[in-house]
Amino acid sequence: MDMDNESISYSAPGKIILFGEHAVVYGYAAIAIAVELRAKCTIVPSLSKNPSILTPDLFPNKSFTINKDTSLPSSLRAIEFVIREMLPSKKRTQYPRIEITSEIPPSAGLGSSAAVAVSLISSLHAFLNINSNLDEINRMAFEAEKIIHGSPSGIDNTISTFGGGIYYENEVKRKILIDDKSCFFVIVNSLIPRNTKDVVEKVKQRRDKNKQEIDQIYEEIQSISTQGEMSLKKGDHERIGTLMSENQNLLEKLGVGHPELTKIIRLVDKHDALGRKLTGAGEGGCIVALFDDYQKTQQAINTLKEKGFQAFITNISSEGVRNETEHV
Ligand code: PMV
Repeated sequence: MDMDNESISYSAPGKIILFGEHAVVYGYAAIAIAVELRAKCTIVPSLSKNPSILTPDLFPNKSFTINKDTSLPSSLRAIEFVIREMLPSKKRTQYPRIEITSEIPPSAGLGSSAAVAVSLISSLHAFLNINSNLDEINRMAFEAEKIIHGSPSGIDNTISTFGGGIYYENEVKRKILIDDKSCFFVIVNSLIPRNTKDVVEKVKQRRDKNKQEIDQIYEEIQSISTQGEMSLKKGDHERIGTLMSENQNLLEKLGVGHPELTKIIRLVDKHDALGRKLTGAGEGGCIVALFDDYQKTQQAINTLKEKGFQAFITNISSEGVRNETEHV
């Protein structure tokens, strides 16, 4: 890039998983949709001697310098990994001053860590003048996800990089066009935080003890994802809703429900949701509910807010990572 201190900026979206979380970790199919809530990374080339990082959402007014003697707080481990991988210690004339902000609630099953990684990697590629492609950004973001989540399926980084809707199985994706003009996906945040790595580990332990039973659940989830793809292509909202609720029953059997999620489910059922399920790892985080009537959607959102939950209609993001650099 030009050495004129022009800043570089990329954003990347969060996601909901419509079908197949947990099963996807074991190579079964899942379907994810990118949502228009974004993490954003801005890099300003600086004359200081090391890269620095600001994350005002997590550490207001604090800047961390990255050099060989320091390590960052554990919540910034994946960010540190990416920066060290991509900026091997050689002398440079300029170093990046990196700022990351995010609209995506963390620890809520909305893919915030993947979106942060994708926006950071894209910005660093531009800073380093690397002509990167989306596959390379996705590959590196998967490595960053492994730092946080242990053995992630790769669905979060893939949907954040490519956007839209995807059917994902065994690290292979295909795009699905999602029609959200005549239906409404509502995200309801229980505000119960949870750690994906811990929940995935608990499910693994259950499977280690009772492989046959858990794999049977995964087979049923696989069938739901396959039928879900067909229903999404047809725009059959009733069927999509039914499949979401069936998927929720299986997630509860897997043991990743939570009383607050059950409370939300009861509320959206009372408002005639076509279907609803948790999204992401579970044990807290968010419910996604499907409606086909705008008025009922708004009434449900009002009731949920009155009960103290965050609730909003999802805007699907057809775009994945996006260049936000403003050229003056
Ligand atoms: O809770 P999230 O947004 O990190 O999603 C986790 C989804 C899982 O299927 C449980 C794990 C994975 O790596 O796919």
